[in-house]
Amino acid sequence: MSTEPGVLAVVESQLSNFGLTPLRAAHELGFHTVLVSNDPDRYRVVSLAEEVYAKHLDEVVTTDTNSVDAVVEALTPFHAAGRLSGVMTVTDYNIPIVAEVAARFGLPGLSPEAARTCRDKLLMRDACRAAGVAVPGYHQATGEADALAAADRFGYPCVVKPMTESASIGVTLCRTPDEVVAAYRDLTASPTDFRGQPRRPGVLVEEYLVGFEVSVESVLVDGERHILGVTDKALGSHPHFVEMGDTFPSMLSEPVRRSCADLARRALEAVGHDFGAAHVEVKVTAEGPRIVEVNGRMPGAEITQLIREATGVYLQREVVRLHAGQTADLTRTRERAAASRYLAAHRAGTLARVDGVDLARRVPGVVDVDLEVHPGDRVRPAESNLDLLGYVVAAGDTTGDAVRRAESALGQLTPVFTADEDAR
Ligand SMILES: Nc1ncnc2c1ncn2[C@@H]1O[C@H](COP(=O)(O)OP(=O)(O)OP(=O)(O)O)[C@@H](O)[C@H]1O
Ligand SMILES: [Mg+2]
Repeated sequence: MSTEPGVLAVVESQLSNFGLTPLRAAHELGFHTVLVSNDPDRYRVVSLAEEVYAKHLDEVVTTDTNSVDAVVEALTPFHAAGRLSGVMTVTDYNIPIVAEVAARFGLPGLSPEAARTCRDKLLMRDACRAAGVAVPGYHQATGEADALAAADRFGYPCVVKPMTESASIGVTLCRTPDEVVAAYRDLTASPTDFRGQPRRPGVLVEEYLVGFEVSVESVLVDGERHILGVTDKALGSHPHFVEMGDTFPSMLSEPVRRSCADLARRALEAVGHDFGAAHVEVKVTAEGPRIVEVNGRMPGAEITQLIREATGVYLQREVVRLHAGQTADLTRTRERAAASRYLAAHRAGTLARVDGVDLARRVPGVVDVDLEVHPGDRVRPAESNLDLLGYVVAAGDTTGDAVRRAESALGQLTPVFTADEDAR
């Protein structure tokens, strides 16, 4: 066995600050960190990139991360040297690939079958329905007429969405047949998804779940599923479903939270989730909670930061430990609350700057203010989470405190467009 530090490989990530934090956590734990990517510079646009690339990333390996064989080949030298401790990802696009790679090396990870089921919204819906877990009506439509027939069956408005994207890309509320056809054409125009992987044919047409949305955050340790808590999710305006903020723990009553957590547990059993963290999205409707989707990974956006502020549990670090075959410490050291709120552009244009960052930082309880845009960037009203301009995170003793603080901090931020400046 090598005496050098173990290698923890992260194969691609989410294009966000959160996406880079597993590398930081792995480095803090003493691992030799390796980013495996088909485009490692992709992540340099993220505001945390400078710190992570300089301080926490030991090595970069460039390879075709859409290929299991290529990733296995890239990591084989570490494995042959007895140094490969773990391999992980937090982006949905690479979850099945990483599960397969981990299995080939005999490393801990999600079973490849569970990973494939979580990754594909059609397989996820089929698995839930077969297990009697409540989901909306859904249909894989492989032609426009088929999509229209499904929309008629579910009634308007309905949701048209891709089966294998993330960050709400392409998820659209359609109010008319014309909108269904437009969404169908839009989603099927390209044979590959946002990260260049082949798409499954067609789209999902779904019954629209009317209600409010939460997510249930959990982690499986030594065979026991621990519910870390329920997150309230705020959404942007239709026809898109942009994540405008998260609040942890939820302000809902205990019975509602429990019913969501119970449904999430059953959904995780249904998809065969057998390792690590999970993030299950649930809509609470008048008929009861319904599964939106099941993700076999940590929650994205800033939810891990909220959990840490609220409970002291450092989920990124504990998940790295699980991937390296260690146990996780989920000891809660505080019972507080935290909330994030996202900044979106109210119109399209070229950004001159965002005013008010210093003011936002002065709001009591604010722990993070971050911009993901730069002067000169073209921006537009958000259609997916990728269009958001930045965020604030605030903590408080209660959920109410945290929300008030995060909302007041967000209110300090003003996007200024170049044309507005010229007009002054
Ligand atoms: N059938 C539905 N009824 C109501 N809302 C829906 C439905 N399907 C999706 N949505 C809304 O769209 C959002 C994004 O959909 P979904 O979670 O399926 O896509 P995603 O791209 O994987 O999202 P993300 O990666 O942001 O979690 C959901 O969080 C939910 O608000
Ligand atoms: Mg989702």
